[in-house]
Amino acid sequence: MQIIRTVEDMRCFVKTAKKNEKTIGFVPTMGYLHEGHVSLMTHAKEENDCVVVCVFVNPLQFNDTKDLDVYPRDETHDVTVCKNIGVDVLFMPPVSEIYPQAMGITMTLQKRIGVLCDRTRPGHFSGVLTVLSKLFHITEPTRVYFGLKDAQQVAVVDLLIQDLHFDTILRRIETVREADGLAKSSRNVNLTPEERTMAPTIYCALKEAVQQMKQGIKTKQEVMQLVETKIEVETTGTIDYIEILSYPELEEVSELKGTLIVACAVNFSKARLIDNIIMTCN
Ligand code: PAJ
Repeated sequence: MQIIRTVEDMRCFVKTAKKNEKTIGFVPTMGYLHEGHVSLMTHAKEENDCVVVCVFVNPLQFNDTKDLDVYPRDETHDVTVCKNIGVDVLFMPPVSEIYPQAMGITMTLQKRIGVLCDRTRPGHFSGVLTVLSKLFHITEPTRVYFGLKDAQQVAVVDLLIQDLHFDTILRRIETVREADGLAKSSRNVNLTPEERTMAPTIYCALKEAVQQMKQGIKTKQEVMQLVETKIEVETTGTIDYIEILSYPELEEVSELKGTLIVACAVNFSKARLIDNIIMTCN
């Protein structure tokens, strides 16, 4: 496995791969790799001639510098994980490579925002789109891999690829969970032991909501109330949002019909957890 740290060397690898008509599967991450990331890499490996994984903690998408400071990092671990999977290139650029100067261009979303994580993390998705545009240009991927745990991110990347004509295929990968249902996340290490035992309630509450939605008896408000009560009673977390929206458009719905996302974010003492289920209601 090659470890590449500069844009120039990355472009050189891509040029050779393209000359040899190799397909490139690209997995962008912020590192501290876990089984969720591994699932994306495994899919990429199955479907492409070579796999490029990026580990880059993108400062532009953190609106809170404290959050950036506590974001977990472990380069040695990440190298081992990627080697074990048979990744071809691990791209780990320093911030100065990706942002050699203050950005003169900013990206603003007009759709799929104003809801879910964009409410409390304004500017986050602009930062995500900026770094992904850079990384897509540098790696010229045949396919890009994103996890549905971050469903709004997937919806926004879908728009990025469509609107800016990126010549790549978006692959959406199911959420990988712990045995007790908690969605795997690099942030889970920031939960206290007590919070860790409560955290699976989030997914339980979402599953109950889906059951209720499928039965078609309860209203949207009633279903959201059910999730809220369960999380409030069974955890010490503070609810940031619970929403039911159309997916991937992320628009308000008056009826529980069509493809919908039921999503929530919960703040614990040092970790903000998000989870969702995407489902179709008849
Ligand atoms: P990061 O949080 O490291 O996640 C990298 C990718 O792994 C994302 O596509 C995310 O949805 C996916 N992922 C995380 N946990 C997962 C799980 N439990 N199951 C399946 N997939 C999971 O998302 C980012 O980084 C950044 O915003 C990035 C896209 C790299 C841009 O900086």
